[in-house]
Amino acid sequence: MLRTIKQTLAAAMRRLATRVRLARCRAPVCRFGTDLHVGSRPRLWAPERIEIGDHTYLGHEVSIETNCRIGRHVLFANRVALVGRRDHDFRTPGVPVRFGHWVGAERTPSPFRGDGVVIDDDVWLGYGAVVLSGVHIGRGAIVAAGSVVKGDVAPYTIVGGNPAVPIGLRFKTNEEIARHEAMVASGTFRFSEKGYDHWVVRPGPP
Ligand SMILES: CC(C)(COP(=O)(O)OP(=O)(O)OC[C@H]1O[C@@H](n2cnc3c(N)ncnc32)[C@H](O)[C@@H]1OP(=O)(O)O)[C@@H](O)C(=O)NCCC(=O)NCCS
Repeated sequence: MLRTIKQTLAAAMRRLATRVRLARCRAPVCRFGTDLHVGSRPRLWAPERIEIGDHTYLGHEVSIETNCRIGRHVLFANRVALVGRRDHDFRTPGVPVRFGHWVGAERTPSPFRGDGVVIDDDVWLGYGAVVLSGVHIGRGAIVAAGSVVKGDVAPYTIVGGNPAVPIGLRFKTNEEIARHEAMVASGTFRFSEKGYDHWVVRPGPP
């Protein structure tokens, strides 16, 4: 009984922590879905927008420092970063890079202010992965731990390394992908801060 009360309180605290972390998000447009989790010490900043879909999980020390549209059922491991490829101008002669024009400048907007990352549904970004702005990661893709992603990733492809290149496929055939998507679409998936044993993971019929 006492254990259950402790667990419920701890889960409530974790839910509250996520809300506080999302409230500290700094971007002119911040849109968040339901059933999100945000780990400790995140940095959530973008010059224009941060959008995160339902049932998505951000691990500890995640840095979002560029515009982004993140889908549903996405898993960010700890220390994943989405960063602006051209955040600081380094090509103007006579200006040290430290003082180069910055993508977040308000009075003189950077031509790269609208750049960002798009991550479709059901993507896993492994520990410490870095994704540069301009990249689109397709549905169901996996990014291996420690990768640097500088180009688009095709749906259901596994990429790894620096720069990240395809290292595998998540499913063997298009039929398997179609089956997976149908089961996800008709299934029920609910996260609980009480722990994995309390999650609802109920795929729909194939
Ligand atoms: C991407 C991943 C899922 C691939 O797992 P897998 O399907 O078992 O793949 P394999 O281990 O068979 O590796 C396939 C190839 O990719 C390479 N590879 C695997 N992980 C890699 C990485 N992080 N960076 C670069 N290459 C990698 C392997 O060396 C192998 O290449 P080879 O065939 O030339 O030897 C796994 O390596 C990974 O990075 N998982 C993320 C772990 C994580 O971040 N956990 C945090 C918890 S959220």
